[in-house]
Amino acid sequence: MSINSAFLDYFRQEFFLDNEIEFEAFTKSLLRPLKKTMRINTNKQPLDTFMSNKTAVGWKFGKTPNGHVFHVDREDTSIALGSNPEHLRGDFYIQELSASMSVWLMSEGQVHTEPFHILEMASSPGGKTTQIAEHYPNAFIFANEFNKERIVPLLENIERMGLTNIAVTNMNGVQFRDLPNRFDLVLLDAPCSWEGIGYKAAESLKYWNIKNVKTIARLQKKLLHAGLVALKPGGTLVYSTCTLNHIENEEVLASAKEEFGDQIEITFSKRFWPHTEIAGGFFVAKIEKKFTETVSEEVSKGYRPNTDISLLEDRSLGMVEDALERLGTNLPHNTQLYRYKNDILLTRFTSDINSLLKELYIIRFGMRIGRIEGNNFEPLPPLGVHFEHTKLLKYEIAKEELKEFLRWLSVPVTLEHAWLIQVYWNGAPLGFGNIQKGVLQSGLPKYMFWK
Ligand SMILES: C[S@@+](CC[C@H](N)C(=O)[O-])C[C@H]1O[C@@H](n2cnc3c(N)ncnc32)[C@H](O)[C@@H]1O
Repeated sequence: MSINSAFLDYFRQEFFLDNEIEFEAFTKSLLRPLKKTMRINTNKQPLDTFMSNKTAVGWKFGKTPNGHVFHVDREDTSIALGSNPEHLRGDFYIQELSASMSVWLMSEGQVHTEPFHILEMASSPGGKTTQIAEHYPNAFIFANEFNKERIVPLLENIERMGLTNIAVTNMNGVQFRDLPNRFDLVLLDAPCSWEGIGYKAAESLKYWNIKNVKTIARLQKKLLHAGLVALKPGGTLVYSTCTLNHIENEEVLASAKEEFGDQIEITFSKRFWPHTEIAGGFFVAKIEKKFTETVSEEVSKGYRPNTDISLLEDRSLGMVEDALERLGTNLPHNTQLYRYKNDILLTRFTSDINSLLKELYIIRFGMRIGRIEGNNFEPLPPLGVHFEHTKLLKYEIAKEELKEFLRWLSVPVTLEHAWLIQVYWNGAPLGFGNIQKGVLQSGLPKYMFWK
């Protein structure tokens, strides 16, 4: 696929006027496929444990500038990386190196234990949301996504990575301008014109036009304005795009500076060029909010906050706890149970959350681990993937059986009947299953289906 000549003219003019050789290197790099990179889910296991287990079966890891992200080469590639059982149960996330840099820079590569409230304004499919949860395991993260269709992959990825400290909201990010000074950290990984991802979406370079770039920049400015209002004084906002032009990057930052003046300081910015970084094209900047000049009047919100989520209490709590006791469920000590209609939601304990809950349009809060049906607690698939249940029969699945099990096909076993068992793969839970008439059947989440 070709690159649009208006795109080439813009970049030659803006960035490479004196350097034709570099311009050629840049244009050649734009459509070049990238080597696969993956981020290891440190909430599930330490980096070393994952890497030594996989090195033993022929995986080779190469270091990158992000200490949690590795190039990966495998001797046996008959199974796609994304279909590996370790991927399906959330041990790792396939994430492009440049895309991993906004959260890496936000956290300065550290794991922070503070109970921050963090907002990600534009989150689907969740690469950065789930990465934030690794660097801020005790924070509560509000992952917002405007596009209803893109909510599904976001929910799946959060569930796949086993996270309980995330609420997903479905709002226009611009609406956060009505919630001043609420969040300690904000990430705006903005919708953009995709100039940096020609390696997977060549059409963005074929159909590029400046009018489209300017239209997106108008939305980016509004989103950045809203994010800076919602950020607490003393907090940091990270702005990133997977695009390279000035209009969606420096010009968006300049408009915020013009508007907020001394209230903000842009402390860092970097453009990741695909020809020098050997990664996707990307731009990232850090903005510190020094103080708030005026707290804007709280205006009536253009959406209906969701007020039906409440802590699970009294009889229902007792019933769920008894059911979990019967399964021998080991839930982490720092979690608590909430209820939304009949759904039972496991969330990481966090203080000061209730007022925020009542202000946002939340469509998922924590992990959906079960449902109340009449007087019974019915466990749901994520409970089997992410937690051990010591009173359930444990079945370590063999390599030859794995394909059938992950395809929802019947696996013959020696046992006749078991209502609920926990299937293990390589010593760690893979999910629930049940046995009927000597046949093991899957109780895994649908997105774990092996394509
Ligand atoms: C670059 S993508 C986000 C990628 C994501 N942060 C990740 O790392 O996986 C930008 C997202 O912004 C969403 N979006 C577009 N307009 C929006 C708006 N007004 N408010 C919030 N999100 C919006 C798009 O649907 C898209 O999912």
